[in-house]
Amino acid sequence: MTIKVFLKDKSELSFPCDVLVLPVLEAEGVKAYRDIDKAMKGLPGSVIASGEITGKHKEVCLLHREGRITPRRILLVGLGKRSELSREKVRQAGGTALSALRNGRAGDIALSSRLFPALKISPADFLEGLLLGSYRFEKYRKENDRKRIRRITILSSQKISREVKRAEAATRAAWLARDLVNTPSNEMTPSALAAAARSLKNVTVRVINRKEAEKLGMGAYLSVAKGSTEPPKFIVITYKKTKGAPVVLIGKSITFDSGGISLKPSEGMEKMKYDMAGGAAVLGVMQALSELGLPLHIVAVLPATENLPGGSASKPGDVVKTIEGKSIEIISTDAEGRMALADAIGYAKRFKPSAIIDIATLTGACSIALGNEAVAMMGNDAALMKKLERASEETGEKVWTMPLFDEYGEYIKSDIADLKNSGGRSGSLVTAGYFLKECAGRVPWVHLDIAGAAWTDKDRPYAPKGGTGIGTRLLLSFLMNRDLPRA
Ligand code: BES
Ligand code: MN
Ligand code: ZN
Repeated sequence: MTIKVFLKDKSELSFPCDVLVLPVLEAEGVKAYRDIDKAMKGLPGSVIASGEITGKHKEVCLLHREGRITPRRILLVGLGKRSELSREKVRQAGGTALSALRNGRAGDIALSSRLFPALKISPADFLEGLLLGSYRFEKYRKENDRKRIRRITILSSQKISREVKRAEAATRAAWLARDLVNTPSNEMTPSALAAAARSLKNVTVRVINRKEAEKLGMGAYLSVAKGSTEPPKFIVITYKKTKGAPVVLIGKSITFDSGGISLKPSEGMEKMKYDMAGGAAVLGVMQALSELGLPLHIVAVLPATENLPGGSASKPGDVVKTIEGKSIEIISTDAEGRMALADAIGYAKRFKPSAIIDIATLTGACSIALGNEAVAMMGNDAALMKKLERASEETGEKVWTMPLFDEYGEYIKSDIADLKNSGGRSGSLVTAGYFLKECAGRVPWVHLDIAGAAWTDKDRPYAPKGGTGIGTRLLLSFLMNRDLPRA
């Protein structure tokens, strides 16, 4: 799975590689590549002049060696119009280039970065697209993709090794998240998630088991675990490289959500292995932090369990108590995510955090509202949400803010308990958020519902079918910006 990345200040013309990638701008021909065009007897220029490729975003065209150049082949990749360029478009172009090359015996590729300085975009973004796009989940296949890319060399004279390191760590984090999500629930159990946490370096891990969780009074979280014989694991990971209050990241980690007694329809139920995508993203972030050694204090909380029906499962109408003593009436055992998150938020407060961010595949209504394109954001702190919006713009992981009007509180009022866990179908994306807001209280808190964006049924420019790893790069960027001096 590993692709080695190199940064070299060398000329494209004489660089030995299988494929040299040349990003091109729409309607600008080979202006930036006159020397290469000349050495290739005008081939790139004539291909563009013929209209075979015009430089439109995500167009690709492969050329074979011609004239006096060392690279075996040249891949022209469209970036679109100069005036419409963005980091995300560059990333997508990188992903598209990768797709064009992945079946083409191109083990060793080089990227020309001479276009990028003037565009004020780092070649590291193109690299990120290449790397993210190269992901495949092949654990269960006999025939693996043997023609995969092994080396990528960025040809650049700029000092961009930090950006390259960051892009590599971010993509490795997203790969980890995708692997965890794509692995089915018979293997990706709460215990397996705990093992994945324990394999991280430079962190301390505490795993709270069922007995200890009972002692701590995590009645809401445990109500989800009751129907399963698979041991629940409440996973706490601490990364501490600075003093001061931590940011707590909470990832919903239901390793399989059958709905419990409020059983889901069987059609499509196999996808509910991805109900731990929030936890997977958080684990990915922790891996990247430890790899980059960032000066931060971050605590990750993954309340992991299955949600199954069984003789001892929770039933609609049951009332349970959270770690903070709030009583919750279970209306639907399928609204299990917020039960686990209620105790995770309550537990997180013990760290006196400066902020709590939860990330969760929380509601079907999230994908009804936003499709698979965006993350729904809700929270009680405008400044915190602004920072996440900024990270969203940087990473291309789209977030969209939803309201938490006080009126939604009425939807989740119980007749017999402090709260009920479902307010019914109407407004279920925001009433789920409101439920968590009640748990967060005064602590600055943001909720990210990734139910739509965490999974894709079609290949995307830099994400193949399956788990997308959404949220990983978003949260990482958010944390990295935090570590910068305040502007
Ligand atoms: N894990 C699901 C939400 C989900 C649905 C994620 C589809 C991804 C794709 C969650 O636990 C759930 O079942 N939510 C219910 C809540 C309802 C019972 C209030 C929902 O959205 O239907
Ligand atoms: Mn559910
Ligand atoms: Zn769920």
